[in-house]
Amino acid sequence: MAAKKSSAVPYAVDVPDRIRKERYFDPDFFALEAKQLWPRVWQMACRLEEIPNPRDFATYEILDQSVIVVRGDDMSVSAFHNVCRHRGVRLVEGRGTCASGFTCPFHGWCYGADGANTFVSRSSTFSAHNMAADEIGLVPVKCETYGGCAWINLDPKAPGLRDSIEPFATYMDAWQLEDMHPEWWYSFRLPVNWKLAQEAFMEQYHVLETHPQLRLPGRYPAKGKPFDAARFLESELTYLRVMSEGMAGMVHASDVKVAERLMPKVKLPDDPVEARAAWERELNAAVVRWHRGKRHVIPDLNQIDADGFTEPMVYCFPHYFILPMYSSASAYRFRPLGPEETLMEIWSLTRFPEGADLPMRPIPEPWAHDDPRVPPIPTQDFSNLPKQQKGLHSLSFEYMRISEQIEGHLSNFHRTIDGYLEGTASKKLLPALRELNVNPLERPVLDLGL
Ligand code: FES
Ligand SMILES: [Fe+2]
Repeated sequence: MAAKKSSAVPYAVDVPDRIRKERYFDPDFFALEAKQLWPRVWQMACRLEEIPNPRDFATYEILDQSVIVVRGDDMSVSAFHNVCRHRGVRLVEGRGTCASGFTCPFHGWCYGADGANTFVSRSSTFSAHNMAADEIGLVPVKCETYGGCAWINLDPKAPGLRDSIEPFATYMDAWQLEDMHPEWWYSFRLPVNWKLAQEAFMEQYHVLETHPQLRLPGRYPAKGKPFDAARFLESELTYLRVMSEGMAGMVHASDVKVAERLMPKVKLPDDPVEARAAWERELNAAVVRWHRGKRHVIPDLNQIDADGFTEPMVYCFPHYFILPMYSSASAYRFRPLGPEETLMEIWSLTRFPEGADLPMRPIPEPWAHDDPRVPPIPTQDFSNLPKQQKGLHSLSFEYMRISEQIEGHLSNFHRTIDGYLEGTASKKLLPALRELNVNPLERPVLDLGL
């Protein structure tokens, strides 16, 4: 793809397969993102298990903004800016239940779960224009639910959630994402820019070097060699175990057990391609049988395959990923804490019986990137990140040179960000989002029409 006309955005991506280093640490660039990007995009604000009952609330922080997500008496979910209309005190922290609404700790103004102002002490001492009813309630934030989460957008004029996250939503509908719930939730403080942190998960190019345990002989038999079904199955099982332990349950331990029990019973065809397909079919069916036997809500995994929703990872701009594997999935969320600091969270999602009491997971204390409790696969990803963030500052380094054919998602991501930074209307950016909200691995640089 040719270079684009020069942009008003500093360090813009003018050559699509070259990403300027300043985008990852320059404070002015970071400030521009804070002003033009984050206030205009849909963000995953909380999981719905965090607010199971009427009047439960959870706060969501993005940079210097704080939003209250609250369950109404009718179970609807809405959101408000977390700030008192009197003199600007932040109302609540963390999560909880506002049985009698929100009371400001400073002078005691009160607000209902619907945001309406319900009490101002000594209100007659204020002039009428400061007491107008439509001026003293909490300021609403656009809020919608999808996939077991509440999402917010600080831009009241933003296009709707579903429109903005397609085709991610269509993919995840097939997986019945809303029926997966967290088994655990971890968070990590990474000493790198939020884009750099995400990019470690946006390409497959790094896998063989960074995760040597995923090089499994026999998984893809060499051309011309006879197919060895036993060796193939053994290496499939090793892969499932490595993914299960390495990601602390991205392949759920129960799915690994199902595969172990299934293995001695399957007869595979001699052709390696057909053998792989047959194994996947059998394993999908066995996993679904196991879960349905426990009355878990799970879609037909073979139907998902037949319908073509087989991607191992789907991205949702600007900060969310789902990685579905058999019954379960990992979910990632990234938030900037500063130009060179990121909060990354991982949820392990799995299936539960219909109507089950869903466990409320504690809000995790962020671990350092090198904390020994970090599961092995993200430990390997995290180990490169600080080295990369430091390397970008080298006087000799100007820009990343990315593969136009297999690391294209990085370029598509950055050029969409430039669209926001230039002030392009959100509606006009929807076609670019459609190209981003897909499996990011092995993607080419695309013309996004920007
Ligand atoms: S700042 Fe909230 S009541 Fe005064
Ligand atoms: Fe990785």
